[in-house]
Amino acid sequence: MSTSPAVPAPVPTAPGGLPLIGHALRLARTPLPFLTSLREYGGVVRVRLGPTPAYVVTDPALTRTVLVTEAASFAKGGKIFDTLRFVFGDGLATIADGDTHLRNRRLMQPMFNRAHIATRCTAMIEQVRSMTGAWEDGRPRDVFADMNDVTLAGFLVAVFGTDLPENLRGEFTALMPDIMRETIRQTLLPPWAARLPLPAHRAYARRVERLRALVDEAVDHHAPTAATGCPHHPGPPAADGHTGLFRTLMTGEEPLTRRQLQDEAITLLNAAIETSGTTLAWALYEITRHPGTEERLRAELTAVCGDRPLRPEDLDHLPYARRVLKEALRKYGPAWIVTRTTTRDVDLGGHRIPAGADIVWSPYLHQNDPSRFPEPDAFDPDRWTLDRTPTTRDAFFAFGDGRRKCIGENFAWVELQIILATVLQTWPRLRLVSRPPRPQTAITVKPDRLTMVFGTS
Ligand code: HEM
Repeated sequence: MSTSPAVPAPVPTAPGGLPLIGHALRLARTPLPFLTSLREYGGVVRVRLGPTPAYVVTDPALTRTVLVTEAASFAKGGKIFDTLRFVFGDGLATIADGDTHLRNRRLMQPMFNRAHIATRCTAMIEQVRSMTGAWEDGRPRDVFADMNDVTLAGFLVAVFGTDLPENLRGEFTALMPDIMRETIRQTLLPPWAARLPLPAHRAYARRVERLRALVDEAVDHHAPTAATGCPHHPGPPAADGHTGLFRTLMTGEEPLTRRQLQDEAITLLNAAIETSGTTLAWALYEITRHPGTEERLRAELTAVCGDRPLRPEDLDHLPYARRVLKEALRKYGPAWIVTRTTTRDVDLGGHRIPAGADIVWSPYLHQNDPSRFPEPDAFDPDRWTLDRTPTTRDAFFAFGDGRRKCIGENFAWVELQIILATVLQTWPRLRLVSRPPRPQTAITVKPDRLTMVFGTS
């Protein structure tokens, strides 16, 4: 922000705004082309969503300013997060910036350190193998739904342990897609409309209530309060290998309260599933389009594992698989739109923006910027080789940056690698049987339709 001229220039406004609704229709109808089109008007561009202006940051260096170097002037906030708070409560992703966020982040960090995650890998691999191995040979499958289901199952086993009762697992799987779909719809409605007592809104509230009850049951299962009568002093650890990462939140120096545990579990469920599921779906689609990529992936897996199933220690020896996943994360930037609110009048890229303004940044927009990623439409995992990364590293924002950066990034990498490797090991043939999918924006940038056949011959 120090580069600003003495008199800040007005922020350029995107053309094509309509009376009353501004650019809201374009953002709703063609969100990705609309966002990427803004780049040509400047590093920060003003759009109008109804009567309210929002400032879209199109220059990755300025997004770094917003998230890292001047983060105190750009607080977590905006309408999306206000709406999400209804479901997530004060979970880590929605809680306002400040001491409580920092404290909760510190308390949750142990759950996500590499050593802890490593203890869950064998259970995750087994879970993923049993699910993908149960697919019927040659039967067309909805890959986006499958990848979300497998991701959720891997997550539950890692976070709540292997002995989570089957009925809980089943109900989580049934509830989550509806809740995620409705949550994103709610974020698009004006606040008064979201509060109308419509049947759909009542059903949503009931589902969220049921999700809280399920989380409670999962927490009880983890911390049998019957042993002590107190959730702050859970009983002895579950048998080795059965316990999950969530236990670190109940047994740390400052155990979280029951309400906090609920909020954090719901936050994690929402943050962890579709982001990873959609990345895997796109990666599998790109593999079917690029036989050379598939060949290299399979050759790498065979060199590391031979004919045996994947083991946790293999994950560090699959660099090409990691590049394929990183390229899927780049090209489809799952968390496509994220917001902040200015805490004071600020200068950004030579422009004055008032306090209380909505700031929008988008991993998708930056990661498809041709000045940072030549031929951004090309799926090219080798753009992530060491000799080529210096030009690309500073525009990769798939996991955000700064103090609100994704806390689950390590976990996501482990789960993505396990699922991709296991699908490839289980099924020697992958074939796309639907037309090429179109990116569709919901919570993430997801494929609108993706049907594939997995076969042994
Ligand atoms: C491919 C997978 C994932 C992607 C692309 C992704 C992306 C992101 C992004 C962009 C943010 C920052 C949002 C902001 O700046 O406002 C974020 C935050 C967060 N993510 Fe992820 N995420 C992924 C997986 C996960 C997983 C697996 C978990 C948990 C197990 C998780 C938990 C969270 C949480 C709790 C936050 C909020 C952190 C905070 O505000 O301190 N995410 N994620």
